Amino acid sequence: MSQLVIRNGEIVTASQRYVADIYCEDGTIKAIGPNLDVPAGVEEYDARGKYVFPGFIDPHTHVRLPFMGTMAVDDYESATVAALCGGTTTLIDFCIPERDESPLHAFNTWQEVSQGKACSDFTWHMAVTRFDEEVERELREIVSRGVTSFKVFLAYGGALGVDDAALLGVMKLAKELGVVVTAHCENSEMIDTLQKKLVAEGKIGPEWHEPSRPTYVEAEGTRHFCNLARTTGAEGYIVHLSCEEALKEAVDAQLAGANVWVETLIQHLVLDHTDAERPNFEGAKFVMSPPLRDKSNQDPLWNGFAKGIIATLGSDHAPFDMEQKRMGEDNFCLIPNGIPSLEDRVRVFFTEGVQTGRVDIHRFVDAASTQAAKIFGLFPKKGTIQIGSDADLVVYDPEVKEKLSVETHHMNVDYNPFEGREVQGRCELVTVRGNVQVRDGEFVGQKGIGEFLKRKPKMS
Ligand code: URP
Ligand code: ZN
Ligand code: ZN
Ligand code: ZN
Repeated sequence: MSQLVIRNGEIVTASQRYVADIYCEDGTIKAIGPNLDVPAGVEEYDARGKYVFPGFIDPHTHVRLPFMGTMAVDDYESATVAALCGGTTTLIDFCIPERDESPLHAFNTWQEVSQGKACSDFTWHMAVTRFDEEVERELREIVSRGVTSFKVFLAYGGALGVDDAALLGVMKLAKELGVVVTAHCENSEMIDTLQKKLVAEGKIGPEWHEPSRPTYVEAEGTRHFCNLARTTGAEGYIVHLSCEEALKEAVDAQLAGANVWVETLIQHLVLDHTDAERPNFEGAKFVMSPPLRDKSNQDPLWNGFAKGIIATLGSDHAPFDMEQKRMGEDNFCLIPNGIPSLEDRVRVFFTEGVQTGRVDIHRFVDAASTQAAKIFGLFPKKGTIQIGSDADLVVYDPEVKEKLSVETHHMNVDYNPFEGREVQGRCELVTVRGNVQVRDGEFVGQKGIGEFLKRKPKMS
Protein backbone atom coordinates (compact mmCIF):
# COMPACT_ATOMS: atom_id res chain seq x y z
CA MET A 1 0.00 0.00 0.00
CA SER A 2 1.57 3.31 -1.06
CA GLN A 3 1.24 6.16 1.44
CA LEU A 4 2.56 9.71 1.29
CA VAL A 5 1.77 13.02 2.89
CA ILE A 6 2.73 16.29 1.22
CA ARG A 7 2.75 19.06 3.85
CA ASN A 8 2.25 22.82 3.66
CA GLY A 9 2.28 23.24 -0.13
CA GLU A 10 0.24 25.91 -1.88
CA ILE A 11 -2.37 23.83 -3.69
CA VAL A 12 -3.40 25.39 -6.99
CA THR A 13 -6.18 23.93 -9.13
CA ALA A 14 -8.22 25.42 -11.97
CA SER A 15 -10.44 27.12 -9.41
CA GLN A 16 -8.77 27.13 -5.98
CA ARG A 17 -5.60 28.23 -4.21
CA TYR A 18 -4.87 27.47 -0.56
CA VAL A 19 -2.20 26.04 1.74
CA ALA A 20 -2.87 22.54 3.10
CA ASP A 21 -1.52 19.01 3.52
CA ILE A 22 -2.47 16.22 1.10
CA TYR A 23 -2.56 12.60 2.25
CA CYS A 24 -2.36 9.93 -0.45
CA GLU A 25 -3.11 6.26 0.13
CA ASP A 26 -3.56 3.39 -2.28
CA GLY A 27 -3.24 5.58 -5.34
CA THR A 28 -5.79 8.23 -4.53
CA ILE A 29 -6.09 11.39 -2.45
CA LYS A 30 -7.58 10.38 0.91
CA ALA A 31 -7.51 13.68 2.84
CA ILE A 32 -6.75 17.37 2.35
CA GLY A 33 -6.46 19.86 5.20
CA PRO A 34 -4.20 21.62 7.66
CA ASN A 35 -1.99 19.54 10.00
CA LEU A 36 -3.36 16.20 8.89
CA ASP A 37 -2.97 13.25 11.24
CA VAL A 38 -1.54 10.36 9.27
CA PRO A 39 -0.56 6.80 10.20
CA ALA A 40 2.88 6.35 11.76
CA GLY A 41 5.73 5.73 9.32
CA VAL A 42 4.14 7.44 6.32
CA GLU A 43 6.62 9.26 4.09
CA GLU A 44 6.41 13.03 4.64
CA TYR A 45 7.36 15.63 2.03
CA ASP A 46 7.63 19.27 2.99
CA ALA A 47 6.35 21.47 0.15
CA ARG A 48 6.44 24.77 2.06
CA GLY A 49 6.97 27.69 -0.32
CA LYS A 50 6.15 25.53 -3.34
CA TYR A 51 3.09 25.00 -5.48
CA VAL A 52 1.24 21.70 -5.59
CA PHE A 53 -0.47 21.29 -8.96
CA PRO A 54 -2.61 18.41 -10.24
CA GLY A 55 -0.54 16.19 -12.53
CA PHE A 56 -0.42 17.78 -15.96
CA ILE A 57 -2.10 16.13 -18.91
CA ASP A 58 -0.71 16.33 -22.42
CA PRO A 59 -3.66 15.90 -24.80
CA HIS A 60 -1.48 15.48 -27.90
CA THR A 61 1.67 13.36 -28.09
CA HIS A 62 3.15 10.96 -30.63
CA VAL A 63 5.30 8.45 -28.79
CA ARG A 64 4.96 5.84 -31.47
CA LEU A 65 4.57 7.60 -34.82
CA PRO A 66 5.12 5.82 -38.11
CA PHE A 67 5.23 8.84 -40.40
CA MET A 68 6.72 9.97 -43.69
CA GLY A 69 8.60 6.72 -44.17
CA THR A 70 10.20 6.69 -40.74
CA MET A 71 9.40 6.25 -37.06
CA ALA A 72 9.58 8.75 -34.18
CA VAL A 73 12.49 7.90 -31.91
CA ASP A 74 11.01 7.82 -28.40
CA ASP A 75 9.37 4.77 -26.91
CA TYR A 76 6.85 4.58 -24.08
CA GLU A 77 9.60 4.37 -21.48
CA SER A 78 11.74 7.27 -22.66
CA ALA A 79 8.76 9.49 -23.48
CA THR A 80 6.99 8.97 -20.17
CA VAL A 81 10.19 9.44 -18.15
CA ALA A 82 10.72 12.75 -19.97
CA ALA A 83 7.08 13.73 -19.54
CA LEU A 84 7.23 13.05 -15.80
CA CYS A 85 10.42 15.06 -15.33
CA GLY A 86 8.45 17.95 -16.85
CA GLY A 87 5.38 17.40 -14.63
CA THR A 88 3.15 15.56 -17.11
CA THR A 89 1.57 12.50 -15.49
CA THR A 90 -0.90 11.53 -18.23
CA LEU A 91 -0.35 11.35 -21.97
CA ILE A 92 -3.07 11.19 -24.56
CA ASP A 93 -1.16 9.67 -27.44
CA PHE A 94 -2.40 8.71 -30.89
CA CYS A 95 -2.94 5.18 -32.14
CA ILE A 96 -2.46 5.54 -35.90
CA PRO A 97 -3.11 2.59 -38.23
CA GLU A 98 -1.52 2.50 -41.65
CA ARG A 99 -4.11 3.21 -44.32
CA ASP A 100 -4.58 -0.45 -45.19
CA GLU A 101 -4.20 -1.71 -41.62
CA SER A 102 -7.14 -2.75 -39.50
CA PRO A 103 -7.76 -0.40 -36.55
CA LEU A 104 -7.83 -3.33 -34.10
CA HIS A 105 -4.47 -4.53 -35.38
CA ALA A 106 -3.00 -1.08 -34.70
CA PHE A 107 -4.75 -0.96 -31.32
CA ASN A 108 -3.14 -4.26 -30.34
CA THR A 109 0.28 -3.07 -31.49
CA TRP A 110 -0.02 0.11 -29.43
CA GLN A 111 -1.00 -1.97 -26.41
CA GLU A 112 1.97 -4.26 -26.88
CA VAL A 113 4.49 -1.42 -27.08
CA SER A 114 3.09 0.49 -24.10
CA GLN A 115 2.05 -2.07 -21.48
CA GLY A 116 4.77 -2.62 -18.93
CA LYS A 117 6.90 0.18 -20.42
CA ALA A 118 5.02 3.40 -19.66
CA CYS A 119 6.00 5.14 -16.43
CA SER A 120 3.03 7.55 -16.49
CA ASP A 121 -0.61 6.83 -17.22
CA PHE A 122 -1.80 7.11 -20.80
CA THR A 123 -4.61 6.68 -23.28
CA TRP A 124 -5.00 7.19 -27.04
CA HIS A 125 -7.00 9.03 -29.59
CA MET A 126 -7.86 6.45 -32.26
CA ALA A 127 -6.87 7.74 -35.70
CA VAL A 128 -9.14 6.89 -38.62
CA THR A 129 -7.12 6.71 -41.81
CA ARG A 130 -9.76 4.85 -43.86
CA PHE A 131 -13.48 4.46 -43.30
CA ASP A 132 -15.52 1.47 -44.43
CA GLU A 133 -17.76 -1.17 -42.82
CA GLU A 134 -14.90 -3.16 -41.34
CA VAL A 135 -13.34 -0.03 -39.87
CA GLU A 136 -16.68 1.10 -38.45
CA ARG A 137 -17.19 -2.27 -36.76
CA GLU A 138 -13.73 -2.21 -35.23
CA LEU A 139 -14.09 1.40 -34.09
CA ARG A 140 -17.19 0.39 -32.15
CA GLU A 141 -15.15 -2.37 -30.53
CA ILE A 142 -12.29 0.02 -29.71
CA VAL A 143 -14.70 2.51 -28.11
CA SER A 144 -16.07 -0.31 -25.96
CA ARG A 145 -12.49 -1.00 -24.87
CA GLY A 146 -12.21 2.53 -23.47
CA VAL A 147 -10.88 4.73 -26.29
CA THR A 148 -13.47 7.47 -26.59
CA SER A 149 -11.84 9.95 -28.95
CA PHE A 150 -11.04 9.66 -32.65
CA LYS A 151 -8.50 11.51 -34.79
CA VAL A 152 -8.84 12.58 -38.40
CA PHE A 153 -6.37 14.31 -40.67
CA LEU A 154 -7.61 16.80 -43.23
CA ALA A 155 -3.94 17.18 -44.21
CA TYR A 156 -1.50 14.49 -45.43
CA GLY A 157 -3.74 13.38 -48.33
CA GLY A 158 -2.64 10.09 -49.88
CA ALA A 159 -1.20 9.00 -46.53
CA LEU A 160 -3.05 9.61 -43.26
CA GLY A 161 -5.62 12.04 -44.65
CA VAL A 162 -9.21 11.11 -45.48
CA ASP A 163 -11.85 12.67 -47.75
CA ASP A 164 -15.16 14.30 -46.87
CA ALA A 165 -17.20 11.13 -47.22
CA ALA A 166 -14.98 9.41 -44.66
CA LEU A 167 -14.93 12.46 -42.39
CA LEU A 168 -18.72 12.58 -42.37
CA GLY A 169 -18.91 8.84 -41.71
CA VAL A 170 -16.52 9.07 -38.75
CA MET A 171 -18.27 12.09 -37.31
CA LYS A 172 -21.73 10.55 -37.58
CA LEU A 173 -20.43 7.47 -35.80
CA ALA A 174 -18.79 9.66 -33.14
CA LYS A 175 -22.04 11.51 -32.55
CA GLU A 176 -23.89 8.21 -32.15
CA LEU A 177 -21.30 6.81 -29.72
CA GLY A 178 -20.65 9.96 -27.68
CA VAL A 179 -17.05 10.20 -28.85
CA VAL A 180 -14.98 13.36 -29.48
CA VAL A 181 -13.38 13.77 -32.93
CA THR A 182 -9.99 15.48 -32.89
CA ALA A 183 -8.79 16.90 -36.20
CA HIS A 184 -5.68 18.18 -37.93
CA CYS A 185 -7.15 21.03 -39.95
CA GLU A 186 -5.23 22.00 -43.08
CA ASN A 187 -6.48 21.73 -46.64
CA SER A 188 -4.49 18.92 -48.21
CA GLU A 189 -4.97 19.75 -51.91
CA MET A 190 -3.91 23.37 -51.46
CA ILE A 191 -0.74 22.23 -49.72
CA ASP A 192 0.00 19.77 -52.50
CA THR A 193 -0.38 22.50 -55.14
CA LEU A 194 1.79 24.98 -53.26
CA GLN A 195 4.49 22.40 -52.48
CA LYS A 196 4.78 21.44 -56.16
CA LYS A 197 4.97 25.10 -57.22
CA LEU A 198 7.68 25.98 -54.69
CA VAL A 199 9.80 22.91 -55.47
CA ALA A 200 9.51 23.62 -59.23
CA GLU A 201 10.88 27.09 -58.50
CA GLY A 202 13.88 25.56 -56.72
CA LYS A 203 12.61 26.61 -53.29
CA ILE A 204 13.57 23.43 -51.46
CA GLY A 205 14.96 24.46 -48.04
CA PRO A 206 13.13 24.12 -44.70
CA GLU A 207 12.27 27.84 -44.77
CA TRP A 208 9.78 27.06 -47.58
CA HIS A 209 7.73 24.71 -45.45
CA GLU A 210 5.66 27.57 -43.97
CA PRO A 211 4.92 29.23 -47.32
CA SER A 212 3.70 25.85 -48.59
CA ARG A 213 0.96 25.83 -45.93
CA PRO A 214 0.10 29.48 -45.24
CA THR A 215 -2.37 30.60 -42.59
CA TYR A 216 -5.30 30.70 -45.03
CA VAL A 217 -4.80 26.98 -45.74
CA GLU A 218 -5.22 26.25 -42.04
CA ALA A 219 -8.12 28.68 -41.72
CA GLU A 220 -9.82 26.91 -44.64
CA GLY A 221 -9.31 23.48 -43.01
CA THR A 222 -10.54 24.76 -39.66
CA ARG A 223 -13.68 26.25 -41.14
CA HIS A 224 -14.31 23.06 -43.09
CA PHE A 225 -13.96 20.81 -40.04
CA CYS A 226 -16.22 23.07 -37.99
CA ASN A 227 -18.88 22.87 -40.69
CA LEU A 228 -18.62 19.07 -40.66
CA ALA A 229 -19.15 19.23 -36.89
CA ARG A 230 -22.21 21.41 -37.44
CA THR A 231 -23.56 19.06 -40.11
CA THR A 232 -23.24 15.94 -37.97
CA GLY A 233 -23.68 17.42 -34.49
CA ALA A 234 -20.46 15.69 -33.42
CA GLU A 235 -18.21 17.15 -30.74
CA GLY A 236 -14.99 18.32 -32.40
CA TYR A 237 -11.55 19.26 -31.14
CA ILE A 238 -9.14 21.21 -33.34
CA VAL A 239 -5.59 20.10 -32.60
CA HIS A 240 -2.52 22.33 -32.83
CA LEU A 241 -4.23 25.52 -34.03
CA SER A 242 -1.37 27.85 -34.91
CA CYS A 243 -2.62 31.23 -36.09
CA GLU A 244 -5.05 34.09 -35.59
CA GLU A 245 -6.83 33.48 -38.90
CA ALA A 246 -7.76 29.91 -37.97
CA LEU A 247 -8.69 30.93 -34.42
CA LYS A 248 -11.18 33.43 -35.80
CA GLU A 249 -12.76 30.70 -37.92
CA ALA A 250 -13.09 28.45 -34.88
CA VAL A 251 -14.63 31.21 -32.78
CA ASP A 252 -17.08 32.14 -35.56
CA ALA A 253 -18.11 28.50 -35.78
CA GLN A 254 -18.50 28.24 -31.99
CA LEU A 255 -20.74 31.30 -32.06
CA ALA A 256 -22.77 29.66 -34.82
CA GLY A 257 -23.27 26.60 -32.63
CA ALA A 258 -20.49 24.21 -33.65
CA ASN A 259 -19.49 22.10 -30.63
CA VAL A 260 -15.73 22.47 -31.10
CA TRP A 261 -12.76 22.96 -28.80
CA VAL A 262 -9.40 24.51 -29.63
CA GLU A 263 -5.94 23.26 -28.68
CA THR A 264 -2.71 25.21 -29.23
CA LEU A 265 0.86 24.05 -28.76
CA ILE A 266 3.68 25.49 -26.74
CA GLN A 267 5.76 25.66 -29.96
CA HIS A 268 3.31 28.06 -31.61
CA LEU A 269 3.33 30.32 -28.54
CA VAL A 270 7.07 30.83 -28.28
CA LEU A 271 8.78 29.76 -31.52
CA ASP A 272 8.20 31.35 -34.90
CA HIS A 273 8.84 31.06 -38.62
CA THR A 274 12.33 32.56 -38.37
CA ASP A 275 13.45 29.43 -36.48
CA ALA A 276 12.81 27.40 -39.64
CA GLU A 277 15.08 29.85 -41.50
CA ARG A 278 18.19 28.97 -39.47
CA PRO A 279 21.15 28.23 -41.77
CA ASN A 280 22.87 24.93 -42.54
CA PHE A 281 19.64 22.95 -42.45
CA GLU A 282 19.19 23.71 -38.74
CA GLY A 283 15.78 25.06 -39.74
CA ALA A 284 14.67 21.42 -40.24
CA LYS A 285 14.50 21.04 -36.46
CA PHE A 286 11.58 23.45 -36.57
CA VAL A 287 9.60 21.89 -39.41
CA MET A 288 6.19 20.80 -38.20
CA SER A 289 2.61 21.12 -39.39
CA PRO A 290 0.85 23.45 -39.12
CA PRO A 291 4.13 25.37 -39.38
CA LEU A 292 5.66 27.83 -36.96
CA ARG A 293 4.11 31.17 -37.91
CA ASP A 294 4.90 34.83 -38.02
CA LYS A 295 5.39 36.17 -34.48
CA SER A 296 2.34 38.43 -34.86
CA ASN A 297 0.16 35.34 -34.28
CA GLN A 298 1.50 34.78 -30.78
CA ASP A 299 -0.33 37.57 -28.95
CA PRO A 300 -3.74 36.44 -30.23
CA LEU A 301 -2.93 32.89 -29.13
CA TRP A 302 -1.85 34.02 -25.66
CA ASN A 303 -4.98 36.15 -25.41
CA GLY A 304 -7.04 33.14 -26.48
CA PHE A 305 -5.55 31.19 -23.58
CA ALA A 306 -6.04 34.01 -21.11
CA LYS A 307 -9.74 34.20 -21.89
CA GLY A 308 -10.36 30.48 -22.26
CA ILE A 309 -11.15 30.69 -25.98
CA ILE A 310 -8.34 28.20 -26.45
CA ALA A 311 -9.17 25.29 -24.14
CA THR A 312 -5.99 23.24 -23.95
CA LEU A 313 -2.22 23.31 -24.32
CA GLY A 314 -0.63 20.36 -26.10
CA SER A 315 2.90 19.44 -27.09
CA ASP A 316 2.33 17.46 -30.31
CA HIS A 317 5.56 15.76 -29.25
CA ALA A 318 6.94 14.22 -32.46
CA PRO A 319 10.65 13.44 -32.05
CA PHE A 320 12.78 12.86 -35.14
CA ASP A 321 16.58 12.89 -34.97
CA MET A 322 18.61 15.09 -37.29
CA GLU A 323 19.55 12.06 -39.38
CA GLN A 324 15.85 11.51 -40.05
CA LYS A 325 15.29 15.21 -40.74
CA ARG A 326 18.04 14.95 -43.38
CA MET A 327 15.73 12.78 -45.50
CA GLY A 328 14.47 16.16 -46.69
CA GLU A 329 17.84 17.82 -47.28
CA ASP A 330 17.06 18.29 -50.99
CA ASN A 331 13.32 18.82 -50.63
CA PHE A 332 11.54 20.28 -47.60
CA CYS A 333 8.45 18.16 -48.41
CA LEU A 334 10.41 15.08 -47.28
CA ILE A 335 11.50 16.41 -43.87
CA PRO A 336 9.66 14.37 -41.20
CA ASN A 337 7.25 16.84 -39.60
CA GLY A 338 7.43 17.28 -35.87
CA ILE A 339 9.07 18.97 -32.89
CA PRO A 340 9.93 17.19 -29.60
CA SER A 341 8.35 19.11 -26.72
CA LEU A 342 6.51 16.97 -24.16
CA GLU A 343 9.15 17.43 -21.47
CA ASP A 344 9.24 21.23 -21.67
CA ARG A 345 5.59 22.09 -22.39
CA VAL A 346 4.59 22.89 -18.81
CA ARG A 347 7.66 24.79 -17.67
CA VAL A 348 7.82 26.97 -20.80
CA PHE A 349 4.08 27.72 -20.46
CA PHE A 350 4.53 28.61 -16.78
CA THR A 351 7.52 30.83 -17.53
CA GLU A 352 6.13 32.64 -20.57
CA GLY A 353 2.50 32.63 -19.47
CA VAL A 354 2.20 32.83 -15.68
CA GLN A 355 5.48 34.60 -14.85
CA THR A 356 4.87 37.30 -17.46
CA GLY A 357 1.28 37.83 -16.27
CA ARG A 358 -0.19 36.78 -19.63
CA VAL A 359 -2.08 33.82 -18.17
CA ASP A 360 -3.62 33.54 -14.71
CA ILE A 361 -2.22 30.63 -12.65
CA HIS A 362 -5.63 28.89 -12.52
CA ARG A 363 -6.01 29.14 -16.29
CA PHE A 364 -2.50 27.68 -16.57
CA VAL A 365 -3.60 24.61 -14.60
CA ASP A 366 -6.88 24.50 -16.49
CA ALA A 367 -5.24 24.62 -19.94
CA ALA A 368 -2.37 22.25 -19.14
CA SER A 369 -4.41 19.72 -17.15
CA THR A 370 -8.05 20.16 -16.15
CA GLN A 371 -9.64 20.94 -19.51
CA ALA A 372 -8.05 17.94 -21.20
CA ALA A 373 -9.41 15.74 -18.40
CA LYS A 374 -12.89 17.19 -18.84
CA ILE A 375 -13.02 17.07 -22.63
CA PHE A 376 -11.57 13.56 -22.88
CA GLY A 377 -13.49 11.84 -20.08
CA LEU A 378 -10.81 11.63 -17.39
CA PHE A 379 -12.22 14.14 -14.90
CA PRO A 380 -12.21 14.10 -11.84
CA LYS A 381 -10.01 10.99 -11.68
CA LYS A 382 -7.37 13.17 -13.35
CA GLY A 383 -7.01 16.95 -13.74
CA THR A 384 -7.67 18.19 -10.22
CA ILE A 385 -6.78 17.83 -6.55
CA GLN A 386 -9.72 16.57 -4.53
CA ILE A 387 -10.53 13.65 -2.27
CA GLY A 388 -11.00 10.52 -4.38
CA SER A 389 -8.96 11.76 -7.35
CA ASP A 390 -5.86 9.87 -8.43
CA ALA A 391 -2.85 11.05 -6.45
CA ASP A 392 -1.10 12.52 -9.51
CA LEU A 393 0.65 15.54 -8.04
CA VAL A 394 3.40 17.97 -9.00
CA VAL A 395 5.31 19.88 -6.34
CA TYR A 396 6.72 22.83 -8.28
CA ASP A 397 9.41 25.15 -6.97
CA PRO A 398 8.89 28.45 -8.80
CA GLU A 399 12.19 29.88 -7.55
CA VAL A 400 14.50 27.47 -9.39
CA LYS A 401 15.79 28.67 -12.75
CA GLU A 402 17.11 26.18 -15.32
CA LYS A 403 18.28 26.27 -18.92
CA LEU A 404 16.69 23.78 -21.29
CA SER A 405 19.13 21.71 -23.31
CA VAL A 406 19.64 18.49 -25.21
CA GLU A 407 22.47 17.86 -22.73
CA THR A 408 20.06 17.53 -19.81
CA HIS A 409 16.69 16.60 -21.28
CA HIS A 410 15.32 13.06 -21.00
CA MET A 411 13.65 12.78 -24.39
CA ASN A 412 15.36 10.28 -26.67
CA VAL A 413 16.09 12.77 -29.45
CA ASP A 414 19.28 14.56 -30.45
CA TYR A 415 18.16 18.18 -30.24
CA ASN A 416 16.02 20.42 -28.09
CA PRO A 417 13.95 23.07 -29.89
CA PHE A 418 14.17 25.32 -26.81
CA GLU A 419 17.98 24.96 -26.49
CA GLY A 420 19.38 27.59 -24.11
CA ARG A 421 15.98 28.97 -23.09
CA GLU A 422 15.69 29.72 -19.38
CA VAL A 423 12.68 28.40 -17.54
CA GLN A 424 11.42 29.36 -14.13
CA GLY A 425 10.55 26.46 -11.89
CA ARG A 426 11.36 22.80 -11.48
CA CYS A 427 9.25 19.74 -10.71
CA GLU A 428 10.62 18.81 -7.29
CA LEU A 429 8.31 15.86 -6.72
CA VAL A 430 5.99 14.14 -9.18
CA THR A 431 3.66 11.32 -8.22
CA VAL A 432 1.59 8.94 -10.31
CA ARG A 433 -1.23 7.42 -8.25
CA GLY A 434 0.82 8.15 -5.13
CA ASN A 435 4.03 6.58 -6.43
CA VAL A 436 6.95 9.01 -6.32
CA GLN A 437 8.30 8.97 -9.87
CA VAL A 438 10.39 12.17 -9.86
CA ARG A 439 12.48 13.92 -7.21
CA ASP A 440 14.45 17.12 -7.81
CA GLY A 441 13.60 17.02 -11.50
CA GLU A 442 15.00 13.52 -12.03
CA PHE A 443 13.25 10.21 -12.55
CA VAL A 444 13.68 8.01 -9.46
CA GLY A 445 10.57 5.86 -9.74
CA GLN A 446 9.41 2.54 -11.01
CA LYS A 447 9.42 1.85 -14.71
CA GLY A 448 6.40 0.24 -16.31
CA ILE A 449 3.79 1.23 -13.72
CA GLY A 450 1.88 3.44 -16.18
CA GLU A 451 -1.70 2.30 -16.74
CA PHE A 452 -3.87 2.45 -19.80
CA LEU A 453 -6.84 4.64 -18.86
CA LYS A 454 -10.18 3.23 -19.93
CA ARG A 455 -12.59 6.04 -20.68
CA LYS A 456 -16.36 6.12 -21.03
CA PRO A 457 -18.30 7.72 -23.88
CA LYS A 458 -20.19 10.92 -23.08
CA MET A 459 -23.91 10.66 -22.43
CA SER A 460 -25.98 12.85 -24.68
O1 URP B 1 4.25 18.14 -37.63
C1 URP B 1 3.58 17.47 -36.89
N1 URP B 1 2.60 18.05 -36.23
N2 URP B 1 3.87 16.16 -36.73
C2 URP B 1 3.14 15.21 -36.03
C3 URP B 1 1.93 14.73 -36.78
C4 URP B 1 0.81 15.72 -36.70
O2 URP B 1 0.41 16.27 -37.70
O3 URP B 1 0.32 15.97 -35.59
ZN1 ZN C 1 -1.32 17.12 -36.95
ZN1 ZN D 1 0.14 15.58 -33.79
ZN1 ZN E 1 18.41 14.28 -15.85
